[in-house]
Amino acid sequence: MSSFANRDVISIRDFTRKELEELLSHAEEMERVYERGGDDRLSGKILATLFFSPSTRTRLSFESAMHRLGGDVISLGGKEAASTAKGENLADTVRTVEHYCDVIVLRHPKEGAARLAAELTDVPVINAGDGANQHPTQTFLDLYTIMKEKGRIGGLRIGLLGDLKYGRTVHSLAYALALFGAKIHLISPEELRMPSHILEELEQIGAEVEEHRDLGEILPDLDVLYVTRIQREMFPDPEEFERVKGSYKVTRELIEEHARSDLVILHPLPRVDEIEPDVDELPQARYFDQVRNGVIVRMALLDLILGGG
Ligand code: NCD
Repeated sequence: MSSFANRDVISIRDFTRKELEELLSHAEEMERVYERGGDDRLSGKILATLFFSPSTRTRLSFESAMHRLGGDVISLGGKEAASTAKGENLADTVRTVEHYCDVIVLRHPKEGAARLAAELTDVPVINAGDGANQHPTQTFLDLYTIMKEKGRIGGLRIGLLGDLKYGRTVHSLAYALALFGAKIHLISPEELRMPSHILEELEQIGAEVEEHRDLGEILPDLDVLYVTRIQREMFPDPEEFERVKGSYKVTRELIEEHARSDLVILHPLPRVDEIEPDVDELPQARYFDQVRNGVIVRMALLDLILGGG
């Protein structure tokens, strides 16, 4: 039986490298199922998506993944449409929805919301992003994309660029990259540095980490550049946002003149202005392949949790 069977997915810290490798190898098999248009192995199972903050890819790719495997989906149409708008708390919502489904995918603006939900129900809870904290399933698809593009993760020089302070994707990803032995280059303006508690944790697990203020100084050495947007909605102070907005940008000239030809550029999306649109035509741009991988990896995850793989 898979170690993922019936399991919550709350933080990347809950997984060992071996478990992550199990998921990645199941995703390879699932890619073939995806290419055949899916099958009905999760027929009779119901996924509930509860999204209390905005999402395009995470929600739709989970829903698509469930449909592709023959399962059903129920979905709360945003917090305005739900009883949350009448004052219902998350705990009561979870204790209701658990009777309607076999797995819950939750996105919530508060850090720790997914952990709280998981403690209230025996139905597996998947964290689809809790505030600035964690986004483990994005990390799963990021790892899968890097493996697919580069054939390995260990030993690669991987740059994480942008809002490392509030970006939950990079908080999860940096930890996983450390488990796999990648060399991590953190590139951000001073104001958006990776929080010190995460830096300490990375050090504790033996990660090789270097910090940079300027992309130009490290770009020529990178195998992978993972770009993130500034998380405007997470800034407690709008002036803080004004000071950093537009402070970094990936342009076509920068890539053509300074990057390796086999660099892989990733982005969890949505993009705002940190990658110029004409970068999309360069061979290094892989962020829309990354989107495709999101469905495949979530199919693999749902299959391991619900079907036993
Ligand atoms: C990310 C998120 O929600 O954290 N998006 C995603 O899930 N693909 C990144 C972001 O919003 O910037």
